[in-house]
Amino acid sequence: MQLLDGKKTSEEIQLEIAAEVQKRKSAGLKIPHLAAVLVGNDGASQTYVGSKVRTCEKLGLKSSLFEYPAEITESELLSVIKKLNEDIEIDGYIVQLPLPKHINEEKIITAINPLKDVDGFHPENVGKMCIGLPSFLPATPFGIMKLLEKYKIETDGKHCVILGRSNIVGTPMSVLLSRKSYPGNCTVTMAHSRTKNIPELCKTADIIIAALGIPGFVKADMIKKGAVVIDVGITRVEDSTKKNGYRIEGDVDFHSVASLCSYITPVPGGVGPMTICGLLLNTLKAAENK
Ligand SMILES: NC(=O)c1ccc[n+]([C@@H]2O[C@H](COP(=O)([O-])OP(=O)(O)OC[C@H]3O[C@@H](n4cnc5c(N)ncnc54)[C@H](OP(=O)(O)O)[C@@H]3O)[C@@H](O)[C@H]2O)c1
Repeated sequence: MQLLDGKKTSEEIQLEIAAEVQKRKSAGLKIPHLAAVLVGNDGASQTYVGSKVRTCEKLGLKSSLFEYPAEITESELLSVIKKLNEDIEIDGYIVQLPLPKHINEEKIITAINPLKDVDGFHPENVGKMCIGLPSFLPATPFGIMKLLEKYKIETDGKHCVILGRSNIVGTPMSVLLSRKSYPGNCTVTMAHSRTKNIPELCKTADIIIAALGIPGFVKADMIKKGAVVIDVGITRVEDSTKKNGYRIEGDVDFHSVASLCSYITPVPGGVGPMTICGLLLNTLKAAENK
């Protein structure tokens, strides 16, 4: 079994990004600028956004954080989006999800200028991705593709079972891995909460991508020997032995599954760090597109 080390791979890609930023600076070009919009005070969202902003700074990109209280109205947030769309200084931005219940996420996402949509959630980018046109890929699937590529994981003709069909992970992952390219050319099965025979399906999978949000869902008896297992899940589980009161768990029961796999991602240190890479690569591209 070999670990798919997202932390190490992410550090390598980050060095490449920093070098690109430096090259742009030396050539007198604009420094890529990523903005993040954070609504409310959800702890996990604050952590994710904070880490994105800090990584930008570390790599020499510019970053801005716009924070608003959970009570912000939908129309106020739409005005914020309009300003960010018009701000020529900002190359790309994200609106951290989830948003408070009174705000329609679809409305907000479709208001983002697709050319600045570095999270790749706008319908225009999703549509382009589906038909194989250049677009911003959603950050997590993009990061997973980079990880597969870096470790030269064979995907051609492989059966890939994707657990979860969300717009941000499962669905785009199924599109990308069935594309006629590398990584891709997989035969993809996408499973969800109504799928009847998940253990049997998983048992036939060469590659499993688990994106459910259910700690330890994927167990040893669901794994074909030699499978590649990518664990996207991040769930905070209460843990009084930890300083912050919780620990992070993935969707895969790592301890029972790992020895059966050819490759597996750890949690943390697998897909998480690769997601930031996806976002920063998109930001660089947004600046280059200008
Ligand atoms: N590492 C990262 O950077 C990163 C990025 C994004 C997300 N995540 C994590 O990845 C996980 C998934 O995120 P998400 O946003 O895709 O979640 P989501 O929107 O909640 O989607 C979960 C998916 O899992 C399916 N599901 C739920 N229970 C199931 C069951 N018992 N059997 C089969 N399928 C089931 C759901 O099916 P239905 O569609 O039928 O409801 C849904 O499609 C979460 O832990 C999240 O925190 C990590």
